[in-house]
Amino acid sequence: MSQKQYNPIGVFDSGYGGLTVLKEIVKELPEYDYLYLGDNARAPYGSRSFEEVYDLTLECVKQLFDKGCHLVILACNTASAKALRNIQQKDLPIIAPNKRVLGVIRPTTELVGNYSKTKHIGVLGTVGTVLSQSYPIEIAKFFPDVKVFQEACPLWVPMVENNEYENPESDSIIKQHIDNLMSRSPKIDTIILGCTHYPLLTNKIKKFLPQNVTLLSQGEIVAKGLVDYMRRHPKMEANCSKNKSMEFFTTGDTANFDIHAGKFFGKQIKSKHLNF
Ligand code: DGL
Repeated sequence: MSQKQYNPIGVFDSGYGGLTVLKEIVKELPEYDYLYLGDNARAPYGSRSFEEVYDLTLECVKQLFDKGCHLVILACNTASAKALRNIQQKDLPIIAPNKRVLGVIRPTTELVGNYSKTKHIGVLGTVGTVLSQSYPIEIAKFFPDVKVFQEACPLWVPMVENNEYENPESDSIIKQHIDNLMSRSPKIDTIILGCTHYPLLTNKIKKFLPQNVTLLSQGEIVAKGLVDYMRRHPKMEANCSKNKSMEFFTTGDTANFDIHAGKFFGKQIKSKHLNF
């Protein structure tokens, strides 16, 4: 009996946040196989140094390659900001010249200017993403007239990873950061959730935002970007297998992961543990 081709699309995040991206990708491109890896045991990445984020991300990308992925999406802004360029330019040509790794910042910055009338855009992200200046630098390439205002929210990822975001105490932490951001420019009319964990906080964030402000989460944008990428790269597209499967790996606790991921996909998830 011939073996089915199994070359899933790899989706990586430091923890649960990338599930917000995977969900939208699967909606747009349901025919493919997907392999999700959450490095929950070592999250958060947001406060780690450039070198640490790069080392951890590369290790996870290699795991995904070993498991058959030809294409890996870094569904993590921090990893996209701090590790993607090095992996693409330095590592891939040596370890896997025919494989590809894509990030989430570029597809977001290509479009964001179209959403704003005032041309004042806010970015909420991890300390690592904000300090990297990736958003202001990339947005300036596509929309030079846009002004970018950033706010780092260091407690938000731990809140999501530890499932503490429904607690009433989380409200004041969320409000504080929204107020900080809006005080930098009351003209902000569009805010990027520049961390894939943050869409889980959408309802709370909206409570503290003026109604005219558009909140952009990246899932849909990245998913549409991937549809376009597949169209433009038929060879890669043919290399990704299509059996409609989803597999989940976590470096953390599988029982916790299954509860989180199950909520996302509305069905039971059985993740596997990955040890480094
Ligand atoms: N979801 C990751 C991001 O988009 C969170 C990084 C972290 O672990 O702090 O940046």
